[in-house]
Amino acid sequence: MMDVLILGQGGREHAIAWNLSKSSEINTVFVLPGNAGTFLDEGIQNVDIDLSNHAEIIKFVKDNNVHLTIVGPEAPLVDGIVDKFNLENLKIFGPTKNFARLEGSKEFAKQFMKKYSIPTAKFHISSDMKDAKDFIEQAKLPIVLKADGLAAGKGVFICHDNKEVNDALEKLFNIDKFNSVVIEEFLVGQELSAIYVCNFRGCSYEIGLPWTKDYKSRDEYNSGPNTGGMGAVSHPFCFQHKNNIYKNHIEIEKILTKTIVAINDVNKTSMSGYLGFLYLGLMVDTDNNIKVLEYNCRLGDPETQNLMLYLTNKGVSLLNLIENNPKLPVQDYNLDRLDSKNQDYCCTIVLAAKGYPESYKKDFFIDLSGIKENEHIKIFHSGTVMQNSKIKAIGGRILSVNVYSENKEKAVKEAYNAIEAIRCYEDEEFSVENNDYVFYRKDIGQ
Ligand code: AMP
Ligand code: GLY
Repeated sequence: MMDVLILGQGGREHAIAWNLSKSSEINTVFVLPGNAGTFLDEGIQNVDIDLSNHAEIIKFVKDNNVHLTIVGPEAPLVDGIVDKFNLENLKIFGPTKNFARLEGSKEFAKQFMKKYSIPTAKFHISSDMKDAKDFIEQAKLPIVLKADGLAAGKGVFICHDNKEVNDALEKLFNIDKFNSVVIEEFLVGQELSAIYVCNFRGCSYEIGLPWTKDYKSRDEYNSGPNTGGMGAVSHPFCFQHKNNIYKNHIEIEKILTKTIVAINDVNKTSMSGYLGFLYLGLMVDTDNNIKVLEYNCRLGDPETQNLMLYLTNKGVSLLNLIENNPKLPVQDYNLDRLDSKNQDYCCTIVLAAKGYPESYKKDFFIDLSGIKENEHIKIFHSGTVMQNSKIKAIGGRILSVNVYSENKEKAVKEAYNAIEAIRCYEDEEFSVENNDYVFYRKDIGQ
């Protein structure tokens, strides 16, 4: 029996911890710092240490004999937490700082894709306002502007007219003071998250998780500002003809292989390969051409909530995927479903605070007693804390309702029934109800 530690406090980390807490090989799952959901779940224990205090985290791991640490969010990876654990010979799952640049710098990622012929949107990099404006004057609208750094899903602007371009450039260069901005061709199509577990068994043994679709914009049908993600579904191509799915599969595997080869080339002086989750954010157009929108060096949020409920229902522990026990039957979750009668599907709907992704309402209370959780229905918390035994909302994305079912229609319907049963209150005593504090998208699954 071992203890494991998950770094992070969002829905992704709650979902990972919940999946691991079901493993017979694990004693305690620590989550640092965790949230109300990880506080309430059995077998999971929150650790009150600041996520940016790497020295304290390392001390905790040593003092508690933690066998394995899994990094949830990108910031500790970009800040080099894995390199620090490696120096201490402590086992950690995540890429080193060098590889985390694939997510930490959009400029690095775009140059990497260009150099290794990985299909992506055409781009230009500007390091000042004048150059950016001159370039955009010659380009076609809509156009996409991206901050060259971590921005929690909020550094991307899709600009349809000159006013939007000017506002975005003003924010990026003058308010947020980014050194450079990626200006990118606008791509159309269906977005897809293809996430791989590049595990301890070494590269070329990576395991592909079921594809998921993240609903990125705040409002229905791709409208409103970009967010961290307002919902997710598994098997987003299930309405397509089998042949299209096989074709997509081949294209995505090609992109993965090129990426791994490129990573190994960048890293040829070092002994270690890429270790951790590798997330390909893809755009699939109507002719099934696929381009990379972004790389992430971690699991997605809310994709992970969807994936963990899905895998747990399949009896799969993330621990086995990370350790990659050679005895584990190799399974392709995307193709296997095509060849079976199985139509299983998982639906994730995020409950967010009014105002998100801009400044939002906080410090109100949530009553979840209207939802009966079971192995098919699970709530994963994001921006919540406990206050006097009540759940208090403190984040933009508060929680997600996740439903696994035998088919898509049932999963989506049950998820909406469940989220509608959530109540919000101004006070801890639940005497003043106010459900206007929250919202969710009504088109998840479409
Ligand atoms: P990124 O952080 O680069 O993935 O961008 C966040 C989101 O912005 C993506 O998930 C897309 O919804 C949208 N986006 C980014 N780049 C493009 C693009 N070139 N064309 C269309 N949409 C994009
Ligand atoms: N849901 C998108 C992301 O985690 O980047």
